[in-house]
Amino acid sequence: MEKRFDFLVIGSGIAGLSFALKVAGHGKVAVVCKGQLDETNTAYAQGGIASVMYPPDNFEKHIHDTLVCGDGLCDEKVVRMVVEEAPAQIKQLMEWGVNFDKKDDGTIDLAKEGGHSEHRILHHKDSTGREIQRALCQKVREHKNIQVFEHHFAVDLITQHHLGMLVKSHHTNIECYGAYVLDIPTGKVYKFLAKIVLIATGGSGNVYYSTTNPAVATGDGIAMVYRAKGVIEDMEFMQFHPTSLYNPGERPSFLITEALRGAGAILRTQDGKEFMHKYDPRGSLATRDIVARAIDNEMKIRGDEYVYLDARHLNKEEVMTHFPTIYQKCKSVGIDIFKEMIPVVPAAHFLCGGIKTDINGRSWINRLYAAGEAACTGLHGANRLASNSLLEAIVFAERASRDALQHFRSYAIPSEIPEWNDSGTTYPEEMVLITQNMKEMQSIMTSYVGIVRSDLRLKRAMNRLSIIFEETEELYKKTKLSKALCELRNLITVCYLIIKSAQQRRESVGLHYNVDCPHRRIKKE
Ligand code: FAD
Ligand code: SIN
Repeated sequence: MEKRFDFLVIGSGIAGLSFALKVAGHGKVAVVCKGQLDETNTAYAQGGIASVMYPPDNFEKHIHDTLVCGDGLCDEKVVRMVVEEAPAQIKQLMEWGVNFDKKDDGTIDLAKEGGHSEHRILHHKDSTGREIQRALCQKVREHKNIQVFEHHFAVDLITQHHLGMLVKSHHTNIECYGAYVLDIPTGKVYKFLAKIVLIATGGSGNVYYSTTNPAVATGDGIAMVYRAKGVIEDMEFMQFHPTSLYNPGERPSFLITEALRGAGAILRTQDGKEFMHKYDPRGSLATRDIVARAIDNEMKIRGDEYVYLDARHLNKEEVMTHFPTIYQKCKSVGIDIFKEMIPVVPAAHFLCGGIKTDINGRSWINRLYAAGEAACTGLHGANRLASNSLLEAIVFAERASRDALQHFRSYAIPSEIPEWNDSGTTYPEEMVLITQNMKEMQSIMTSYVGIVRSDLRLKRAMNRLSIIFEETEELYKKTKLSKALCELRNLITVCYLIIKSAQQRRESVGLHYNVDCPHRRIKKE
């Protein structure tokens, strides 16, 4: 059972759909996504997308802010390139129909977020991602060269390994010819063959119990590339967003955008005291690593389960105009944000590491590109600057598309690629074997590999994880493919990569804070 395309795009967020639109004029494109087309992290983005638009802002300031936030580990060449190419990609988004909020004089209304020295966040109220997703989905559905496969789960990349050849980790001669894809409703596994494959599978937040990420964020692309022996990097840098709504049991955790702090909201402990200036002169608008750690520390010292975000003093009309979703959500759980403070806690939000790419989005596997949150391009270093990720996704989708278009016509796909082999497997008898291991995995990561780490906690996490890994591999070998089992297996791989990277990094830097490792001295401004 085989399907052939010029381009196979795995993922339907901003990275996947913008790449698909850019290459679709040149060949047949398949967009594969495991849920509906609009079920993505992208659709959840609130604050917006960063780009230099008007003076007094300029490229040097955006570059400087990104480098400071990345704590010395950004690739400066990549930072400069992304920042300088941002305005052209913003223009492209607007041409595709994305509506960013404007002021009465017709200029774009720019917000400010933590770590930014200027107002440079383009937004659509507090639901920017939904607006971007809407526009891109519409364009993709209209394009005659793009075929959309919803509820299709990419299981494994196809390489020379599937032709019986020996493929070694990190070698430069591995080639990708497509992916085995599970049609979730029918249970059939297809070979999706293509000259070029783009991994745009988004985040991995579900390795933790509390996350702002929707259920689709299970790190599948990273795990697939790891199994295919590509290069994965910087996995220890998981960003915890400082302010998700404290509402126990709600998954995903509802985000209270940083733009609300940009508009003047202030963090306070439960007794009403402002505390951020103890940690950083920028107060509530310091970079996320610092704010999340400060909140974690205050909660531990005081034994509290949350801190407060105080928006009571803000202009009511402005808040209602810019943050209608947050107002409504808080109201729905009984909080009037003009009278009461909002209880907030940090939650896993964004993975800075992932599939290592070059400046054109090429992974270490030939013909395979990666863009968006699944990729590690060098932009974020040890910590991502707010609203730089939608930007990174669209800039790298553009660069990957340009590079792919130069080469794809010369690529042939071998004819002898075998069908998916599930002989000897049976349907799972007990789903509890999967669901319980998922809970245990999230509990291990939350307890031992959270905002503050130690050598002992990491060692313990690895030991516990290895038991779950063995059990899950055993189950996988004898069971027919299911989305739940594949996701668990991928999440366990991502956990392993996070813990391993955290153990190898012998300094506390950016988002990785290990009490047993010295802190890298960097200049925070
Ligand atoms: P996604 O948008 O996550 O899309 C992933 C796609 O991959 C989905 O279509 C999914 O179905 C598909 N997929 C995954 N695995 C498989 C598989 N095995 N088979 C088939 N399909 C698969 N960033 C900003 O810059 N600004 C913001 O304001 C902002 N706010 C945010 C708010 C929230 C609540 C969250 C969660 C994130 C926010 N981010 C923000 C981060 C940003 O939204 C994401 O990093 C970005 O949208 C990721 O886009 P993507 O295209 O890489 O992947
Ligand atoms: C937010 O709106 O606070 C999230 C922005 C981001 O993750 O970049």
